[in-house]
Amino acid sequence: MRSKLARFAENAQRKNVVEPGKPIFATIRGNWSSYFENDHPIVLELGCGHGEYTVGLATLHPHNNFVGVDVKGARIWKGSRDAEALQLSNAAFLRIRILQLQDSFAKHEVAGIWITFPDPHPKESEEKRRLTSPRFLEIYKEVLQPGSWIHLKTDNLALYEYTLEVLRASMDIHNVAYTDNLYRSDLYGLEQQIETTYEQKFARRGINIKYVRFQFR
Ligand SMILES: C[S@@+](CC[C@H](N)C(=O)[O-])C[C@H]1O[C@@H](n2cnc3c(N)ncnc32)[C@H](O)[C@@H]1O
Repeated sequence: MRSKLARFAENAQRKNVVEPGKPIFATIRGNWSSYFENDHPIVLELGCGHGEYTVGLATLHPHNNFVGVDVKGARIWKGSRDAEALQLSNAAFLRIRILQLQDSFAKHEVAGIWITFPDPHPKESEEKRRLTSPRFLEIYKEVLQPGSWIHLKTDNLALYEYTLEVLRASMDIHNVAYTDNLYRSDLYGLEQQIETTYEQKFARRGINIKYVRFQFR
């Protein structure tokens, strides 16, 4: 297995990794269409880890662009390598903190978001770190085109229930669909069947996968 430093060095050479220190990082906001060399819709995977959704969705939808976002370069390295091996010109990886999303995407530059197995942050005091808390939803709303879908997959019942509570309390969200047992649900379509590293781990332990999707008005 490659060391973290070796992975960082490879990320620095890869065109499909956008990260601080590269000239492209400073100019990418509002310019993703030039980066991908087309004006196809741009969909994000937040907290992408090894980037299974980014790679899986890019394979399923060649006419959309996908950007996996994670703060950890050693994890992004794997998605970036897989996308290169599959010659996916519609997949890229962005190394930032999600709180900084608006520094990398202009208003309405994004056409959809997947949040895949985010850290649940179970303590009350950590609520604002949850990726479905109101402060993050405000950020997503700014970068998303109106009517775009947000999808959440999680193993964590408390985070699932918390998310539904936040959505019910929000006036500008509609078309909420959800299940606490995705694999047995009508919502289990081709996109939902893509499995992440964490998903495989939890599903193997017999934990039901929960899923929520919704739109901003
Ligand atoms: C539990 S892992 C899930 C990884 C992957 N989505 C999966 O399902 O296998 C959560 C990921 O989110 C990333 N992450 C958590 N909070 C983040 C933040 N605020 N900004 C960027 N990445 C974040 C972590 O680095 C980690 O890779």
